[in-house]
Amino acid sequence: MPRALLVCVIAWACMLTVSNAWSKGTPVTPGTSFPTNLFSSMYYMPSQPTAEPRPAVARLGGGWFPDALNNPMTLPSHAPASEAVLPAPLHGTQQVKTLIHDVLNSAHQLVRGGNSSFLCNVCRTGLSTLQTLAHTSPELVPDVLTGVCRTLNLFGATALSDQCALTFDRAMYGGPITQVMSYGNFSGEAPDATLVCAAATFCERPSENLSEAFLNDWFHGSRAPSQSTLDRWHAKQAHAQAHFSESSLLPVLHISDLHVDGRYMVGSESNCTFGETRYCCHSISANSALYSKPITHGTVPRANISAPAGYWGNYTCDAPWSLIGNALEAIRHVSGERGYELALFTGDLTLHDDLFRYSHDLIQYSAQALFGALKGILGRTPLFSTLGNHETSPENFYAPHSLPDGRGHQFDWDSDYLARLWRSLGWLDAHGEQDVRTHYGGFSVSPRSGLRIISMNSDFWYFVNVFNYIHSTNPDMSGMLRFLTDELFEAEKRGERVWILGHVATGWDGSQSLEKPSNLFYQIVSRFAPHTIAAIFFGHTHQDHFSVFYRAESGRSADAPRHTSGAATIALNAPSVTPESNVNPSFRVYYVDPHTYDIYDWDQYYADVDTFATSVHGPVWHHLYSARDTYGDLHASVHDHQYSAHVALEHGTRWPQNVPLNATFWAALTDEMEARPALLSTFSRLQSRQSSRANVCTDQDCRKANVCYMRSATAAQGRTCRAGFGSVV
Ligand SMILES: *[C@@H]1O[C@H](CO)[C@@H](O)[C@H](O)[C@H]1NC(C)=O
Ligand SMILES: *[C@@H]1O[C@H](CO)[C@@H](O)[C@H](O)[C@H]1NC(C)=O
Ligand SMILES: *[C@@H]1O[C@H](CO)[C@@H](O)[C@H](O)[C@H]1NC(C)=O
Ligand SMILES: *[C@@H]1O[C@H](CO)[C@@H](O)[C@H](O)[C@H]1NC(C)=O
Ligand SMILES: *[C@@H]1O[C@H](CO)[C@@H](O)[C@H](O)[C@H]1NC(C)=O
Ligand SMILES: *[C@@H]1O[C@H](CO)[C@@H](O)[C@H](O)[C@H]1NC(C)=O
Ligand SMILES: *[C@@H]1O[C@H](CO)[C@@H](O)[C@H](O)[C@H]1NC(C)=O
Repeated sequence: MPRALLVCVIAWACMLTVSNAWSKGTPVTPGTSFPTNLFSSMYYMPSQPTAEPRPAVARLGGGWFPDALNNPMTLPSHAPASEAVLPAPLHGTQQVKTLIHDVLNSAHQLVRGGNSSFLCNVCRTGLSTLQTLAHTSPELVPDVLTGVCRTLNLFGATALSDQCALTFDRAMYGGPITQVMSYGNFSGEAPDATLVCAAATFCERPSENLSEAFLNDWFHGSRAPSQSTLDRWHAKQAHAQAHFSESSLLPVLHISDLHVDGRYMVGSESNCTFGETRYCCHSISANSALYSKPITHGTVPRANISAPAGYWGNYTCDAPWSLIGNALEAIRHVSGERGYELALFTGDLTLHDDLFRYSHDLIQYSAQALFGALKGILGRTPLFSTLGNHETSPENFYAPHSLPDGRGHQFDWDSDYLARLWRSLGWLDAHGEQDVRTHYGGFSVSPRSGLRIISMNSDFWYFVNVFNYIHSTNPDMSGMLRFLTDELFEAEKRGERVWILGHVATGWDGSQSLEKPSNLFYQIVSRFAPHTIAAIFFGHTHQDHFSVFYRAESGRSADAPRHTSGAATIALNAPSVTPESNVNPSFRVYYVDPHTYDIYDWDQYYADVDTFATSVHGPVWHHLYSARDTYGDLHASVHDHQYSAHVALEHGTRWPQNVPLNATFWAALTDEMEARPALLSTFSRLQSRQSSRANVCTDQDCRKANVCYMRSATAAQGRTCRAGFGSVV
């Protein structure tokens, strides 16, 4: 051993060999035992893989989250009444009965149908009436919504018994929607009414347009970076490429969408079709072909189950603790002795479950348990996160601070907890903690010289968040994008490069974000990229894809010329750890320049769900692909004279080793995919991590739509593409 050491000291190349003792081609099998050392104690630890482990999780500030919160046998049956928030009533003397009658009448008219201008008007009139009711008698609105839900048969044939009542309960969607009805502008043809009715497909979508006056004001007249700012960036970029060395790249972990399911029951129905829950792998999940009675507690008997849930997880279900523990071990193993320099998490800790089984406690438990466990495997590496749409209760919702009657702070329980938690884990300082409280879970920090990470709460552009429909002509009611812009101005001044974290992507197929906020985000990115913004990271879809941001030339993103020469930055959508939605669990390691923080490459790892069941070792984690190896060859577009990136390729076809995989590369790749359809099929297979349950994009329409999604980073841009090809599952 001394001799080996001596040789190593002399030959530094040998040190590389030692630190790379594990090579990425070798599969990782963390084994079958659960890493109980990541938790202070366990409520339950099975001796056989016939039930899932149940970690006991200590609450920040004292006490424990109760076992019943995540026990497969004790599913909550209704929303906690104490968590309901209604708007404050205004005085009024309207005839409540008449109002309710009129609202229900509007709903009936919508069901009967008609031409589009008629339906749009009926919808707006209905909302205006509902607003009057919300002003005078807010406590009655959740029941009226339940009635409308039944009239419109919102949940269709697969509804749970009373799903309308459970969903529009005042402690679930009923309370927030009543607030929107009270605080929004629903008089006549007001934009809020039109936007709500557009979401329900009764009216045309309002324009994404932001006027020149608005944009000038937004950027305080500074619509473009100064020449000296650009010169400084170009010098830095040139220096990094001239002195490029692969060994100095920093490894950065990116994980997304963990969705731990503490309620997962081994042996329950994984092939569920019907039941008193919309989710599989829970004690009351059922398949209607084999079990036909309503069941709200207890378990479906084994004889009536078509495909029992396995110990390690199923494609139809969120990640059980066994799979989470195993994935964490694999993540640790892959980092080797070097460890990760930084780690990113793009949201969604909590399981998918029926709305009414959510609670503040469930959200805080998921955060405490998973961030605590991640701290255990990451050690001194800091983790920077963004709030997912599942990080709140009611799910998907977050209210702007500007709501009246103190209602603007109804989600403080959430951001305050995360602020304290991230601080206690050593990931944020006092300033970062304060940011999280002030900016809805968002923050701006500089973990390394020259790098800034700005985390956004993407609920404020997510179309499901009903609070975004209040004063919707304002693209930034929450102030989240103002915060981002102010931070970017500061970063630009300091010459920092910025990574932006968010959960819901602003673009891709355009189905998830709202027009105005996603357009404003685009305008901001266009103003600050690439010299300040190096990359954007998203999650949410569980799938692996990307979108290029191009330079905007007007207040309408849909008008931006989306040519490779105008590529500004890239949004990378990292795949999920949860297998739910028929994908294979996965995580990513970027290799990043230590000065420009541009991404040079990444490795994607995955475990195949189909083979979990048959492997005696449990999940086996494989290297799936390297971005540069898979996509770095652009020969087809070069051959067709479609290559337009102004970067001289190595051997005439390969993206140069010393040039990062920046937005210009990804834009050029979309040109290559047009020239070489087989590459798009490769992308499509990787989108699900080669899941046997996923489709592969092979026909002309799908390929064309996908290239268009890759060039779309707002709702309006995504809607210029043919719809329906955004997901492979
Ligand atoms: C739409 O339907 C309404 C009510 O049925 C009718 O009055 C109106 O003329 C129709 N408009 C068009 C453009 O067909
Ligand atoms: C509501 O919208 C209407 C129609 O656009 C407008 O005239 C009115 O001023 C708005 N009211 C408020 C309080 O913003
Ligand atoms: C919308 O955009 C067009 C072209 O960019 C512009 O001329 C027009 O004034 C805008 N309209 C509004 C309402 O901002
Ligand atoms: C469960 O399966 C048994 C045996 O096939 C069947 O007789 C019974 O009706 C099923 N139970 C329900 C509730 O469907
Ligand atoms: C799932 O159930 C359906 C009937 O509802 C059945 O046709 C199918 O074969 C089952 N799949 C599996 C994997 O058991
Ligand atoms: C879930 O996994 C088990 C094996 O662990 C398998 O037998 C079952 O068919 C899977 N369920 C579905 C719906 O594929
Ligand atoms: C990507 O890097 C190349 C080579 O330095 C450069 O020409 C190009 O402008 C860069 N693109 C972006 C968007 O930073």
